[in-house]
Amino acid sequence: MNVLKELTREHRHILKGIQYLEMARAALENNLKPPPAFFHTATLFFSDYADRLHHFKEEYLLFSLLASKKGGKIDLEMGALRHQHELNRKSIKKIRNALSGYETDSEIAATLLLEGLAVYISILKRHIYREDHLFFPMAESELSDTDKELLHTRFLEEASGSDTKTLVMQNMSRLEELGKMMSKFLRAS
Ligand SMILES: [Fe+2]
Ligand SMILES: [Fe+2]
Repeated sequence: MNVLKELTREHRHILKGIQYLEMARAALENNLKPPPAFFHTATLFFSDYADRLHHFKEEYLLFSLLASKKGGKIDLEMGALRHQHELNRKSIKKIRNALSGYETDSEIAATLLLEGLAVYISILKRHIYREDHLFFPMAESELSDTDKELLHTRFLEEASGSDTKTLVMQNMSRLEELGKMMSKFLRAS
């Protein structure tokens, strides 16, 4: 397993989830109401899969190794990526907090939901683009074969935990569920 390819592969799942969020955002912009259950499942998928699983691997396995290798030279870029992870967490919290009001047709809650979605989608798309096209290629060239082996071992340790396996399976099901809920909603709209 090439760990950088593995992270990019995870991005594809996250981007699939973002596509569904974009459909939900477009519906809200047209005064339609995607089901609250869609957003509940989406917040679970993005906080468990994108944040707890994927961002954890980036920050605690990849970034920490790179920081020890390259000293302060790439701290600024890693700081920016970490900052974007943090903003993403805040947006998910905002989306989650808006849901009870959204369920009762509060216009203020719908607006907060839209705000959270717009920020989340936009920042995460830029973030993934920068990782795939700039940061990971830089990491690929900076890490020695020994570093890559070490990362590979750490990733395998992380992936082999029963909690992680369950989390991955659960979130692949959530992603599928999001697709089904969105298709059903769009057919009925
Ligand atoms: Fe990231
Ligand atoms: Fe990432």
